[in-house]
Amino acid sequence: RRKLGILISGRGSNMAALVEAARPSDCPFEVALVASDNPEAAGLAWAAEQGIATFAQSPKGMPKAEYEARIDAALRSAGVELIALAGYMRLLSPGFVGRWAGRILNIHPSLLPKYKGLDTHARAIVAEDTVAGCSVHLVTEELDAGAVLGQAKVPVLTGDTAEALAARVLVEEHRLYPRVLAEFARTMTDPSLARVRSLALVLPEVEET
Ligand code: GAR
Repeated sequence: RRKLGILISGRGSNMAALVEAARPSDCPFEVALVASDNPEAAGLAWAAEQGIATFAQSPKGMPKAEYEARIDAALRSAGVELIALAGYMRLLSPGFVGRWAGRILNIHPSLLPKYKGLDTHARAIVAEDTVAGCSVHLVTEELDAGAVLGQAKVPVLTGDTAEALAARVLVEEHRLYPRVLAEFARTMTDPSLARVRSLALVLPEVEET
């Protein structure tokens, strides 16, 4: 099983979905570490209760490189091979992304390439979109711009608030992320798929798969 490190900043519901998905022994990934930039993140306490190793490092009062070096060291000492960002609300530096190239995935609450960044649901409502959703993508230096590995759609309903839409999308996030991560973890051990992964890394944008 590929050892997964999960980075969170808050609630951690996507992290919890990955932890639950990894319980059966035939899941191709196992959660080796949950790390956070926020020592108060609710998800950290939950992960610790599940018996999962946790690591908290606030970036306050230190250069970004130092903060990231500490996260990197914690991931490596836990034997992490693959990183999942799950509501991790901090941009990783090109240096960090380069050291884990092709091995960091993120879940984003929009149908990328639409609505990179924040306030995705409010923006979808203002634009009068009839469909919204979430995307799992490879992390590159550029925010929310790496190759899309999977997407799920939900309808935008008349009178939707950003909160109501977020809740509808979140249900799909919890289904999509474990599924895509499992597929991805499987390709890591399959040499014939290694080339596909490296291609996905350099292709600018891939429509939904
Ligand atoms: C999720 O909706 C995730 O897609 C989003 O934050 C939420 C975290 O919830 N991520 C981003 O906006 C990344 N830019 P969670 O902590 O309960 O998983």
